[in-house]
Amino acid sequence: MRIAMIGTGYVGLVSGACFSEFGVSVTCVDKDAGKIERLSRGEIPIYEPGLEHLVASNAAAGRLSFTTDLKSAVAGADAVFIAVGTPSRRGDGHADLSYVFAAAAEIAEALRQNASERTIVVTKSTVPVGTGRQVERILCEVLPQGRFDVASNPEFLREGSAIQDFMRPDRVVIGTDSEHARTVLRALYRPLYLLETPIVFTTIETAELIKYAANAFLATKITFINEVADLCEAVGADVQDVARGIGLDGRIGRKFLHAGPGFGGSCFPKDCQALVRTAEQAETPLAIVETVLRVNDDRKRQMAERIAAACGGSVEGLTLAALGLTYKPNTDDMRDSPSLTFLPALHAAGATIRAFDPEGMAEAKKLMPELDYCDDAYQAIDGADALVLITEWNEFRGLDLGRVKQLLRQPLVIDLRNIYKPEEMLAAGLVYHSIGRPSGIPNTREPAALRAIG
Ligand SMILES: NC(=O)c1ccc[n+]([C@@H]2O[C@H](COP(=O)([O-])OP(=O)(O)OC[C@H]3O[C@@H](n4cnc5c(N)ncnc54)[C@H](O)[C@@H]3O)[C@@H](O)[C@H]2O)c1
Repeated sequence: MRIAMIGTGYVGLVSGACFSEFGVSVTCVDKDAGKIERLSRGEIPIYEPGLEHLVASNAAAGRLSFTTDLKSAVAGADAVFIAVGTPSRRGDGHADLSYVFAAAAEIAEALRQNASERTIVVTKSTVPVGTGRQVERILCEVLPQGRFDVASNPEFLREGSAIQDFMRPDRVVIGTDSEHARTVLRALYRPLYLLETPIVFTTIETAELIKYAANAFLATKITFINEVADLCEAVGADVQDVARGIGLDGRIGRKFLHAGPGFGGSCFPKDCQALVRTAEQAETPLAIVETVLRVNDDRKRQMAERIAAACGGSVEGLTLAALGLTYKPNTDDMRDSPSLTFLPALHAAGATIRAFDPEGMAEAKKLMPELDYCDDAYQAIDGADALVLITEWNEFRGLDLGRVKQLLRQPLVIDLRNIYKPEEMLAAGLVYHSIGRPSGIPNTREPAALRAIG
């Protein structure tokens, strides 16, 4: 079996490497010549645990190669995957499908010029309902019936655990009308089928919507627990116990119930927006998802106020140590990270920000040039008036609290990910603020909301 992967980003590269690990011959294509050159030298352009080894071993085995030449990659392929970006369209929040349609047109032309028998064109990018049919129309304009089939195969991997997610997914979704496409894609995913991974065969439209509904649901879960966290703070409850208490209910589930600074990343914000736009067009508004987006945007902004409040009301003239800049650990992806909202706001309010992130700093420097970047966590903390923990990288989970106390000008820690226990911070002599939990400082006051309730 031979496949071509068009777009060698976070999804295309991981999917291509994993398919090659399944024994398939994979050619990854990207129009970014620099990226392809680096990959061909064995350099991995993104940070994703385990990816370097996977790419190296499959490239060495001759099953994985990289090129900018789409035509040669597509020639003789059983299936061609489209894994290009679908960012938010500037101005209106619709998914920008220009990369998908451009890739489809290039694939059509490449297939027209070579005499291979029948090729399946599979959309792996996250695309709104109706896109697969438009891809089909683009191919129809150039190719005779019977030369191609179309399918939708949305990807559910998470950055940071992408290989594990691809190799052991909860399910694989395949949308197509074509029996031939079903057969080929079933064969391609055979190693997962043998692991009894559920494979959901459906129509193209349904497959497209499954992806958006999944992301919108997960974003809703996060936003729900974030609001509950605020309520916990007002009434003196502990959001982590609430999350555990509800999450143990199998109908709810424990995952995605971690309160924090709001969701970000390259998928949830843009996919929720695109889904809202699709629903508006279909005249069936999704009020819950609209609210989730609004609440989440507000929350990211409110983080600046929360940090200022913890610092005594203002950050003017203060130095803040910011640990973690990416939207989650184990990735270098800075797209829509919450830190991009509140750190510039704190800087504009007069704070000096000394930042450190294990993998995200190269990108962060381009997006937030106004911050001071440090070589490690302790350098950032040295002489700061407060430590703000933003992303729960493992290396921030085990900080030497004695050293932290010694280095800080004031013993103040604001933990937006609830990495630490209030008691241990209290024991270390640190004033500790976290999300949705008692502060760890002996509570001499009745919570405001309880006072109000009487
Ligand atoms: N990143 C994730 O965690 C994730 C997870 C699931 C689904 N998705 C979806 O997968 C898609 C890809 O996301 P990503 O994060 O990998 O994007 P990305 O920006 O990292 O990669 C896209 C790549 O496609 C290349 N490209 C664009 N047009 C091309 C063309 N015509 N020919 C060849 N290459 C081309 C770009 O140069 C880029 O390298 C999006 O629709 C996204 O929503 C992403």
